[in-house]
Amino acid sequence: MICAPSFLSSDFSKLKDEIRSISHAKWLHFDVMDGKFVSNKTYDHHMLSEIKTYSDQFFDCHLMIEKPENYVQNYIDHHADLITFHYEATDDPLSLIKLIKKQGVQVGISIKPNTDVIALDPLLKDLDLILIMSVEPGQGGQSFIHGSLKKIKYLDEQRKLHDYPYLIEVDGGINHHTAKLVKEAGVDVIVVGSYIFNQANRNQIIKDLENV
Ligand code: DX5
Ligand code: ZN
Repeated sequence: MICAPSFLSSDFSKLKDEIRSISHAKWLHFDVMDGKFVSNKTYDHHMLSEIKTYSDQFFDCHLMIEKPENYVQNYIDHHADLITFHYEATDDPLSLIKLIKKQGVQVGISIKPNTDVIALDPLLKDLDLILIMSVEPGQGGQSFIHGSLKKIKYLDEQRKLHDYPYLIEVDGGINHHTAKLVKEAGVDVIVVGSYIFNQANRNQIIKDLENV
């Protein structure tokens, strides 16, 4: 599996060292929060430029923002490799998917725990990735919601049935135990925040998670 550390739980006073401490990871997960779609507010596209100066990892941007159509261009211009917006945050997801893809950036869509996965059916053929939230978006350090597993299994079945190319990513409460559960369900990418940043031997933890 691909492990995408979320540095939401890192020490921002020494961000360069924190990013360096997860140098083994091929992906970096950016948790962008606007204080409207979720009550928390984090950073915006300027963070990408700063981190790009000392990381060549794949930038996986998770936009927990209202009306993402008004902001995605900033992330495209600041070299996001993949942009994931929330299904619940826009009334025209298909146009946004097309806009992002047209500019050569990979596109994902995310659903919150209370959103039914079948809502995504009309969009599956156009997506590069689907992000299943296994916690309520807004903060790190929460517990894994086991109901996420049936959504992952559904998406894995659908892509096998229709030969869809999308990746399945899961985000929230991932540790060594839940990583095994989601892998069995069909996940390709795990987002991991507190489980990595609460420990010292971070690159070893990432290696272990990649091979559960
Ligand atoms: C929550 C974020 C997650 C979170 C994961 O809104 O989208 O990426 O940072 O943190 P943990 O792994 O601690 O649940
Ligand atoms: Zn996230």
